[in-house]
Amino acid sequence: MSDSDIEEAELTGPAPQPAGPVSVIDYSERIPNNVGLATDRKLQRALESWQPAFLDWWAALGPSLPTRDVYLRTAIAIGRDGWASWARVPMEQYRWGIFLSERDGPRQIGFGQHMGEPAWREVPGEYRSELRRLIVVQGDTEPASVEQQRHLGATAPSLYDLRNLFQVNVEEGRHLWAMVYLLHAYFGRDGREEAGQLLRRHSGHPDSPRILGAFNEETTDWLSFFMFTYFTDRDGKYQLGTLKESGFDPLSRSCEFMLREEAHHMFVGTTGVQRIVARTAQVMAERGTDDIWRYGAIPLGTVQKYLNLQYSLSLDLFGSETSSNAAAYFTAGLKGRWMEGRRTDDHVLTAVTAQVPVVAADGTLSERTVPALTALNLDLRDEYVADCERGLRKWNLELDKAGLGPDARLTLPHPGFNRNVGVFAGHHVSPSGEVLDEAEWTRRAGDWLPTADDRGQVAGLMVPHYEPGEFASWLTPPAVGINDLPVEYDYVRF
Ligand SMILES: [Fe+2]
Ligand SMILES: [Fe+2]
Repeated sequence: MSDSDIEEAELTGPAPQPAGPVSVIDYSERIPNNVGLATDRKLQRALESWQPAFLDWWAALGPSLPTRDVYLRTAIAIGRDGWASWARVPMEQYRWGIFLSERDGPRQIGFGQHMGEPAWREVPGEYRSELRRLIVVQGDTEPASVEQQRHLGATAPSLYDLRNLFQVNVEEGRHLWAMVYLLHAYFGRDGREEAGQLLRRHSGHPDSPRILGAFNEETTDWLSFFMFTYFTDRDGKYQLGTLKESGFDPLSRSCEFMLREEAHHMFVGTTGVQRIVARTAQVMAERGTDDIWRYGAIPLGTVQKYLNLQYSLSLDLFGSETSSNAAAYFTAGLKGRWMEGRRTDDHVLTAVTAQVPVVAADGTLSERTVPALTALNLDLRDEYVADCERGLRKWNLELDKAGLGPDARLTLPHPGFNRNVGVFAGHHVSPSGEVLDEAEWTRRAGDWLPTADDRGQVAGLMVPHYEPGEFASWLTPPAVGINDLPVEYDYVRF
């Protein structure tokens, strides 16, 4: 099953329930796992000593809304028949486990200079620091988003949405566990130190911020949260997709399992924005105006501004269009391309070129030819952009259904818009791709990015709705509930 199939499956129904035999997980262990922790006392002790620090971090920087229990999915096993259990769980008692996907037989490296060799079960000495860096950068994003989202519980538009927020949060916590396991199990002392640092850097902290820019921005409200889960969790999907190809087998199998959970996060984003747009379209059509704040809905122009911001922040996460690091990671077999196995080229790329954008001094946009190996960040970003377009089509359908005419549309801005990384950094590019001078950018930026005023208006709508079946005015209820439960189920209890 491909990752987009998984995401589609998530859109049409719940993940499969355990049915029949699944891999055996010993629940008497403190850390549910399928990595044989019980037989490795040293590693078990290392993780058990990290666990209290994790729980302290969760108490201090995890969800700030006190709750009694939440209806949550918990990864409990790997198996063809199911992998998760569903239950009401006090969040601090969530079982954050460690799981690697299971494979049929040994796997071979599928690209780069080690292509065809058996995948590595241990870290090759010559790639140790590069692999550690890749794991740390991925690991750092997981707790960061929990920190960014910690206050959103106070203003949830429904119990259904509140539950989805908490589901995303606990699973990002589990993804941190997945990366910390790799650091402890394979990188000795420096791995343990890095695992500690993952809890000491904090989103937006002036002295020890998270590693990547988008993870230091504030998630100010639920519109911003849904945009985050659509655009930024989707960046995560693509990064995990490249690490899933890694020659380092434990990393590959960790990321493959994480992708299953990630599908739900993107489901939250896709349907969250869709429900907002559906309500916006409905109110615009009924009232015959796009000034709909006073009717308790979010104007389309404001939705577009939030989209512009989150999309441009997320494009920065792909790094520079040309990168010798990306080339080196690929050649070494550490990080592949999206769907490497489906590519029909030689998987080595030493004799191929690619086009990358250039901005000339006079502001003209053009392209230049570079070795394809150095353009792999752009290759991944292009895959991502195509995937983003699919959601936009769904959202625009809501506008079509309301009969609003061709001007009522959401669009992705030009990839050069509002960028801080890569060739467009330092240039001012409009959403339609015009290069502007500083003065014009300053004059018009408020038409394209959320202003303090926009955020204030959105904040005015963010009032909690905690009665089962009750929903805020600015979005429609979901079509179905979670795991076949009714929409009005009390997914969270206080
Ligand atoms: Fe994650
Ligand atoms: Fe995620």
